[in-house]
Amino acid sequence: MAASASPCVKKCVLVIRIVLFFLFLSFAVDAHPLKICKFDQIYQLGDSISDIGNLIREVPIGASTAFARLPYGETFFKNPTGRCSDGLLMIDYIAMAAGLPLLPPYKDIEADFSFGVNFAVAGSTALPTEVLSAKHIFSPVTNSSLNVQLDWMSTHFNSICRDHRECVQKLRSALFMVGEVGGNDYNYAIFQGKTMEELTSMVPEVVNAIVDGVRKATSFGATRIVVPGNFPIGCLPIYKTALQTNISKAYDENQCLKQLNDFAKYHNAQLQQAIHKLKQESPNVVIVYGDYYNAYQFLLKFSKSYGFDTQRACCGIGGKYNFNMTRMCGAPDVAVCEDPHRYISWDGVHLTQEGYKIMAGWLVHDMFNKLLCHF
Ligand SMILES: *[C@@H]1O[C@H](CO)[C@@H](O)[C@H](O)[C@H]1NC(C)=O
Ligand SMILES: *[C@@H]1O[C@H](CO)[C@@H](O)[C@H](O)[C@H]1NC(C)=O
Ligand SMILES: *[C@@H]1O[C@H](CO)[C@@H](O)[C@H](O)[C@H]1NC(C)=O
Repeated sequence: MAASASPCVKKCVLVIRIVLFFLFLSFAVDAHPLKICKFDQIYQLGDSISDIGNLIREVPIGASTAFARLPYGETFFKNPTGRCSDGLLMIDYIAMAAGLPLLPPYKDIEADFSFGVNFAVAGSTALPTEVLSAKHIFSPVTNSSLNVQLDWMSTHFNSICRDHRECVQKLRSALFMVGEVGGNDYNYAIFQGKTMEELTSMVPEVVNAIVDGVRKATSFGATRIVVPGNFPIGCLPIYKTALQTNISKAYDENQCLKQLNDFAKYHNAQLQQAIHKLKQESPNVVIVYGDYYNAYQFLLKFSKSYGFDTQRACCGIGGKYNFNMTRMCGAPDVAVCEDPHRYISWDGVHLTQEGYKIMAGWLVHDMFNKLLCHF
């Protein structure tokens, strides 16, 4: 009896811990003081971390990507929306925490844009595609890089404001998210054979493109801007599969590739320095660094203690990380795990809804303290 009771007790304790943890999370996201900021709108620029349906409205390439089909979207919407996940993204949780409806994608011409617009396009880059192609880096899925998204933003504001003064008035209580963007510039460079030295030499240019985006948002009238950094990309199954090695020193304590995480840290440090300068340029604009790197570290720590799979992709096939570049999620006969809420990685590149939810809980808290909403 005693021998069988012990594992049961252990299991119950684990279940209770998990329940308490989710209660904590739902409180953290749903009832958060981010509402105190009283944002009227949110405007999002970026890539697949925040695209909620723009890429799949681009023909012919975007519409034919796997993101336009199940199993993408299976958990929350039971339907593909263009989100690169099984469900909601961080921007969805941020909108909810701010007490706003989920943002519509810019490319949905019938949408109601009164609470903001999401301009993000999966696969997009911080640098214009022409600039990348001059470096022999090819953008495979879209040409809607940050500058193109900023043009859309300009067109949108021209359509809702009679003049600049009216826009400044309208955007006084808006939140702008400039990124995450830039991650793909590096992803494409690495997977198209560039060296780490070449990657490092791209950082100032990529950071400059993001800085230009922030300046442009400021010129429209933005007063609160979040500028997210990159993920610890050495933790993603896509990289861990491509750069798998027997050299144990190449991995950190979370089994992430150190060199790639160090590179992400380098980009993030340059970005934070640039933000510091921007703040001096525009002392009346609140510019906050969005710390995706540490939000992800928090996610890893919690996932480990709650027994999530932190290594393998939920939707994928084969290898140590359940990932194969030539047979990715959405391809024929590629299986989906039964319990995506117990995985961090959805498809080896993007996170599960659960992963994004936990990161967003951490971020919303971290951002709130820095957005100076009490004033
Ligand atoms: C991007 O633009 C180039 C040049 O106009 C074009 O050849 C290419 O097909 C475009 N790529 C996509 C994904 O639309
Ligand atoms: C790692 O070690 C195994 C067994 O020693 C070997 O078969 C394999 O080729 C090695 N892999 C790499 C990437 O070096
Ligand atoms: C990936 O899939 C291809 C095609 O099925 C296969 O040939 C290859 O060995 C797989 N790679 C790995 C690392 O499993």
